[in-house]
Amino acid sequence: MAEWWKKSTVYQIYPRSFMDSNGDGIGDIRGIIQKLDYLEELGVDIIWLSPVYDSPNDDNGYDIRDYQKIMDDFGTMEDFEELIGQMHKRGLKLMMDLVVNHTSDEHEWFSSKPEYYIWRDEPNNWRSFFSGSAWEYDQQREQYFLHLFSRKQPDLNWENPEMREAVYGMMRWWLDKGVDGFRMDVINLISKDQDFPDGPDGDGGAFYMNGPKVHDYLQEMNREVLSKYDIVTVGEMPGATISDAIKYTDEERKEVNMIFTFEHMGLDQASGEKWDLKPLQLTDLKYNLEHWQHALHNSGWNSLYWNNHDQPRIVSRFGNDGEYRVESAKMLAACLHFMQGTPYIYQGEEIGMTNVRFDSIEEYKDIETLNMYKEKRSLGVPHEKIMHSIYAKGRDNARTPMQWNAEVHGGFTIGTPWIASNPNHSTINTLDRDDSGSIYQFYKKLVELRKKMDIITHGNFTLLHREDENVFAYTREVPGEQLTVYCNFSEQQLEFPRPQGELLIHNYEKPESMGKIILRPYETIVFHKKI
Ligand code: NOJ
Repeated sequence: MAEWWKKSTVYQIYPRSFMDSNGDGIGDIRGIIQKLDYLEELGVDIIWLSPVYDSPNDDNGYDIRDYQKIMDDFGTMEDFEELIGQMHKRGLKLMMDLVVNHTSDEHEWFSSKPEYYIWRDEPNNWRSFFSGSAWEYDQQREQYFLHLFSRKQPDLNWENPEMREAVYGMMRWWLDKGVDGFRMDVINLISKDQDFPDGPDGDGGAFYMNGPKVHDYLQEMNREVLSKYDIVTVGEMPGATISDAIKYTDEERKEVNMIFTFEHMGLDQASGEKWDLKPLQLTDLKYNLEHWQHALHNSGWNSLYWNNHDQPRIVSRFGNDGEYRVESAKMLAACLHFMQGTPYIYQGEEIGMTNVRFDSIEEYKDIETLNMYKEKRSLGVPHEKIMHSIYAKGRDNARTPMQWNAEVHGGFTIGTPWIASNPNHSTINTLDRDDSGSIYQFYKKLVELRKKMDIITHGNFTLLHREDENVFAYTREVPGEQLTVYCNFSEQQLEFPRPQGELLIHNYEKPESMGKIILRPYETIVFHKKI
């Protein structure tokens, strides 16, 4: 079955925060099994599971100690096998998170196979993504090792063929167990410029993002592993441009099926630093996504996402999480899901979960946030200013427990959750999912339409009303058929000529139609025309 993933919708589970089955305050695999009905009902096709491997949890599982063992907090290998069995019975596919740019420093390779890591006598000036230097001194070895993320996440040395073979062997082991694909963590960072030059202001990105041998490594991985299975692959790729994306995803080149771009996620930051906030200008978002839609139309494939475990909640970010929460959550969903590519829904997005505001920094758990806070405080930045950025951009916004119901901790756990639940779980939760007007039902319909309508998979994309700062409107076309999508990103009322066609989906009561459309705050309307 070629390219089934082009008509699929992916749902991402961050297991720590999804569902706790044993009352220890941490989500687990049996909790996921309990919620498979919920996911089946939503209609999604693939579950991307953030890491469930054995880990000391310096970065919540993105620091792997043993690639072939399940983290105790999450359960056992038997639980995992049951999960995959139950998923397959329901026709759901499982995409594992593959974290092979780095391991944990507690992985046995770090002591038994030091040549699998990157060592230098002198550090260069590269900064870690999690603040401070990207190099740590090792007393025993009397050398520095590279860690682009935390000190407990040493980078693997992809120059070493034996290390690469060990990684491929591990991947085959999971695929033989029946997993259906991989989401590859920061996979475009695996090849470093071997001169390790200093970067401007400590930014070494130019020397390790889309580095010199990355395409060779991915082609080798494809040849050795991926090509032997009918699976889906997506590479997480900070700093990948459109021309990089074409190379990574062009089918002829045999690398990965699609990538996660970061470009549209950087449009509300004022500098290279994500904490440096600026309001989104809608035209920036429109032009950016238009560009990706056009460039990958016939030579590659897009992934479509607003949210994941690293990003703030989209309804708080580009929508309105107050008066128009429901309308704007649906509008954002429609805007994304009618584009070309494979859409990703992050847990809680389908019920319009919002950002959180904890009063004290002690309530935050994310290493990126905590390190940044410490560093900025030591530089004299006022507490309030930092908290302002954390409220807007902190990763814990996405990591508060899934809001199942209005009970204590949103029904996520009967114990004490590892991170506090968003107090708005009393009103924002899955209990309303059967109501025809719920955000959940809207997502369900979008997932269903994608399966039914080939035009969503194949149509050409054309942006309408290019200069307009409030509306994001576009058409999708195949011969004899057209979709027209209108999304009001503002609270203003907007007026446009009514496009031809039948109303396909909308987020308000039936709109007025007198040869024009009047878009109410955050309204979305989609028309479908067959000639
Ligand atoms: C990207 C992951 O999505 C993020 O959560 C993690 O901290 C880094 N890679 C390091 O693995």
